[in-house]
Amino acid sequence: MARYIGKDMSRVEGVAKVTGKAKYAAEFQVKNLAHGFLATGAIARGTIKSIDTTEAERAPGVIRVFTHLNTPKFNTGSDKSFYALQSDRILFNMQPVALVVAETFEQARFASYLVKVEYNGEPHATDTESLLAKARVPGSRKPTPRGNPDEAMKTAPVKVAAEYRIQMEHHNPIEPHAAIAHWEGDKLTIFDKTQEVYGVRRHLAKVFGLSEDNVQVVSPFVGGAFGASLRPNYYPSLTAMAARELKRPVKVVYTRSQMYTGYGYRPYTIQKIALGAEKSGKLTAMIHDAVHNTSSYEEFNDNTTSMTRGVYACPNLLATTKLVDTDLSTPTWMRAPGAVSGMFALECALDELAYELKIDPLELRLINYAETDPESGRPWSSKALRECYRLGAEKFGWKKRTMEPRSMRDGRLLVGWGVATGVWGAFQAPASVRVTYRADGTAHVASATSDIGPGTYTVMTMIAAEYLGLKPEQVKFELGDTRFPRAPAQGGSLTTASVGSAVYGAALAIVGKLLTLANADANSPLKAAAAADVELMDGRLRLKNDPSRFVVAADLLKRNNLGEIAETYQSMPSAERNKYATQAHGAQFVEVKVDPDIGKVRVTRIIEVTATGKIMNPKTSHSQELGGIVWGIGMALQEATEIDHRYGRIMNHNLQHYHVPVNADILDYESVFIEEDDQIVNPLGIKGMGELCLVGIPAAIACAVFHATGKRVRELPITPEKLL
Ligand code: MOS
Repeated sequence: MARYIGKDMSRVEGVAKVTGKAKYAAEFQVKNLAHGFLATGAIARGTIKSIDTTEAERAPGVIRVFTHLNTPKFNTGSDKSFYALQSDRILFNMQPVALVVAETFEQARFASYLVKVEYNGEPHATDTESLLAKARVPGSRKPTPRGNPDEAMKTAPVKVAAEYRIQMEHHNPIEPHAAIAHWEGDKLTIFDKTQEVYGVRRHLAKVFGLSEDNVQVVSPFVGGAFGASLRPNYYPSLTAMAARELKRPVKVVYTRSQMYTGYGYRPYTIQKIALGAEKSGKLTAMIHDAVHNTSSYEEFNDNTTSMTRGVYACPNLLATTKLVDTDLSTPTWMRAPGAVSGMFALECALDELAYELKIDPLELRLINYAETDPESGRPWSSKALRECYRLGAEKFGWKKRTMEPRSMRDGRLLVGWGVATGVWGAFQAPASVRVTYRADGTAHVASATSDIGPGTYTVMTMIAAEYLGLKPEQVKFELGDTRFPRAPAQGGSLTTASVGSAVYGAALAIVGKLLTLANADANSPLKAAAAADVELMDGRLRLKNDPSRFVVAADLLKRNNLGEIAETYQSMPSAERNKYATQAHGAQFVEVKVDPDIGKVRVTRIIEVTATGKIMNPKTSHSQELGGIVWGIGMALQEATEIDHRYGRIMNHNLQHYHVPVNADILDYESVFIEEDDQIVNPLGIKGMGELCLVGIPAAIACAVFHATGKRVRELPITPEKLL
């Protein structure tokens, strides 16, 4: 029986976070720190004709003003991403054009306003809509159809076709991106907000021509990231450059506005989708064609249509994602990248098909249930989606739904119910962990992973305590530092599956090592036992099936003159996984109430049921799912980055005009799990959940809005004016 796994555990770092003891990148105290402030440009495309920094340089406290004229060249190799102050070229509006470094933040900010720039402007294009004719399939591989989608579409007895749009969106974490860089000779230490310390290290080592050993990246706490810190943005190299040139530590923090061009965004996405079906509801053809924007200098592709191939059983299919170049900064991954966008279109189209067929939308999904992976034909490692549909429908009371739009009311409010499917991969990547088991009955566990909020500190502590036979308070887990063993970026919802498997493996390696020590003694009570037969519990190494036979680990270490033993273990995805399709699934049931006079949509109920392997910590898992729901409400009803295309400039680069849900928008929604006992995905049966929980929400809300109002809004966000 597990003592901790599967039971609620409060965040081990929770008190540190609410008392301010948890240090975020910009909060580290470094002596003799200078402060950098970015000055950003005012045109979308062209070159800098002249830049006058004399006034800024004379301002109080200013140490140096860096521009493209006096910034050393970085070694960027083949990396096409944006590096600041490397040339006079302007690639997007609000591009950094100067970094002012001063004794205080206020002095640097003031002086940044004194930098005068003149430009040679060039015609720019930032509107994806007007560039559609130039859409291209990225890379060299043409998307391959399954079966014969064109022919099947032609002959399908029932068809729907529609076009869907999603506005650009920004991650907007609470913590602004920030770095503090400081050099000792050729050794660089950088405190950075990142989802991958090793990624930042590789990046900076290359930029400055250093050996990776000479770069230490520290990032113990991240105040939200959602993909915005998956790759190094332009500020760490800029900060490190300034610190190197000035021979003193430098800190750079984005302002809220600078965040809008500082790390990427969910791209503007246009999707055409056509579905063909038999009268029974069985899908015979799916053609899904997405286009989204990228920048003029770098290809970013979120694979909008990638989930389409694996959600429903359908023999004929084509799913394409194309790109158009825009004079904007490069988009990036944003929570459930591609999947939430693609599934918005697919799930709404399925709802449209349900109305065409007069089949209940939930029933239509069951008719097309994929019993095996429709793409590869492989069996699922586990898939409890059918149970998700069943439990969700039962809890929601779906049976009482009347099909006709505008048929359900609450007084003068229109009531609508919608359903959608969620899907995300059950990924795992190589990850390493170091466990130190001490004679004093404590353990130190470390891995260079990240915790951007899901509860990684807590779940790793839990797994270590479970398999080292310790109490959670006897385990200290540390992350976010390149001094620790390598771990993948915290992205793709793979951390618990990857790093958790490594913690588990490292704990078992400790057990094995202790057993070897014990059995070096001819009188060992564990003689002849194999590593699999023993376990650690409360400081004893004991036989699983006869706990009265044990050795005390502390005695064992003492006899060997050891204060502790340590093991570094790397977990890898198993070969067995390749024989299966591995995904996590969910179903979301949504109720909205719409005010017919003012078009205001209120999400009054959500039941989200997810099947995502073993639930390690129900408490933090539940928070993850609620977070996804809130994100889905934002995406469906509020969030949009708006560009004035005359200037190619983002207009709502602040939290006043970029709307995100606030507490007043959010009611008490329900998230439940159907646990899957998945022996294939990894030893602990873990699938990720942090992105899955968002995937179906916007579609379910849009379908509920249609059911309430009879109006099919095919463009997110569904703001009141679109309903009037
Ligand atoms: Mo996420 S978009 O996997 O950080």
